[in-house]
Amino acid sequence: MTTPMMCTPPTPGIGLRLAHLEEMVAARPPVGWLEVHPENFLANPHAAELLAELSVHYPVSIHTVGISVGTASGIDRLHLIRIRGLVDQINPIFVSGHLAWSSYGNEYLNDLLPLPYTEETARLVTSHVDELQNTLGRPYLIENPASYVGFKSSAMNETVFLHEIVQRTGCRLLCDVSNVVVSAHNMGSNPQTYIDDFPAEAIAEIHLGGFTPVEDEATPGAELWIDTHAAPIAERSWDLYAHALRRFGPKPTLIEWDNQLPRLTTLVGEARYADRVARTILMETAHADAG
Ligand SMILES: [Fe+2]
Repeated sequence: MTTPMMCTPPTPGIGLRLAHLEEMVAARPPVGWLEVHPENFLANPHAAELLAELSVHYPVSIHTVGISVGTASGIDRLHLIRIRGLVDQINPIFVSGHLAWSSYGNEYLNDLLPLPYTEETARLVTSHVDELQNTLGRPYLIENPASYVGFKSSAMNETVFLHEIVQRTGCRLLCDVSNVVVSAHNMGSNPQTYIDDFPAEAIAEIHLGGFTPVEDEATPGAELWIDTHAAPIAERSWDLYAHALRRFGPKPTLIEWDNQLPRLTTLVGEARYADRVARTILMETAHADAG
């Protein structure tokens, strides 16, 4: 497998959705990079053309939502070959997807469903990540999911499982800091500890996205936090982002917003704020080293 060099974008990027595509081409706001869902472009030649134009001006990352690394029925080869076509055309800085399953056979679900963290699952995910990386000819980034339930059968925690997959496949990781906040709330765990245990050496990218609290029907009076990507980044996600940067050092960071889309300028503002947080942590670290 060849390993193209991954460059580090200088400033945070934004998730680019179809509703902002034409404005993005016309206005070209100062963001460090763009991340797209390839599934939005595979059957939309006009959108693919605009994306190719943008890729001349911005580094582009491809974040798959239709590749199901945890599916027991195998990766959809046809979909993967289509994604490779877009990857070959755009030459993205990253190609990523979730540690989850979302399809079985010809059935596609609209959700990212959880996996039990067992040796059997590790072997399954490993073979699928190997297949992805061999087909795409580049490292694949696995993203930690937002969790709502766990499995009694899990034999290892999520960070140990991710470490196993990295060791077995040589893949890289995408740390979604907001997913850590959501999972920690829903599962009653400590988000800082998760970040402290995360395989830092494999991190290529960080995500930040908004979540929505809803009433937990299973536990009256309790709240469930849903990873909706439909709201501004919460204060506790910014705090955990600062904690993550202190541990991981500066990493390419992306603002994700998929539902109830705001104006493009709002997304650019969130990216600028992420940049300010990162610069503050960098200065803090530099002062600590100098002192
Ligand atoms: Fe994410």
